[in-house]
Amino acid sequence: MKVLVIQGPNLNLLGEREEELYGGATLEEINFELEEVGKQLGVEVFSFQSNHEGEIVDVIQGAPVEEYEAIIINPAAYTHTSVAIRDALLAVRLPYYEVHISNIFAREEFRQRSLISDGASGIVTGFGTVGYTLALQGVSRHLDIQ
Ligand code: DQA
Repeated sequence: MKVLVIQGPNLNLLGEREEELYGGATLEEINFELEEVGKQLGVEVFSFQSNHEGEIVDVIQGAPVEEYEAIIINPAAYTHTSVAIRDALLAVRLPYYEVHISNIFAREEFRQRSLISDGASGIVTGFGTVGYTLALQGVSRHLDIQ
């Protein structure tokens, strides 16, 4: 199984950005852990981060050609604003899983609305950066039984 992990804007700053909200792990550490857990699960993980909406759209559009079976995405601030990312996710018809490090429903009102949640196969929010691992484990089991 191949899974694409997409990280949105400012997540390249993990480890130094608002640590009280997002924790101390860097993106590199998260990617390493996902690869390791992926190996245990028999899942090939490819991780991608961008600060640019159009680049994220391009990578989502390319996912079926690259033969990914699922997408795990934390669109970061684009969660709350990007119709383009929503449309791309719906267009490619791959199951996708939404991850947020913080609990977006316990934060400012503008963060409590996600433009992608209604199409997501699953959502993990508020577990810190462990949420990525939980999502990968969830995806592997979820797709296995479907
Ligand atoms: C976030 C929550 C978003 O509101 C915020 O813009 C982020 C990170 C999270 O993982 O908790 O950049 O997606």
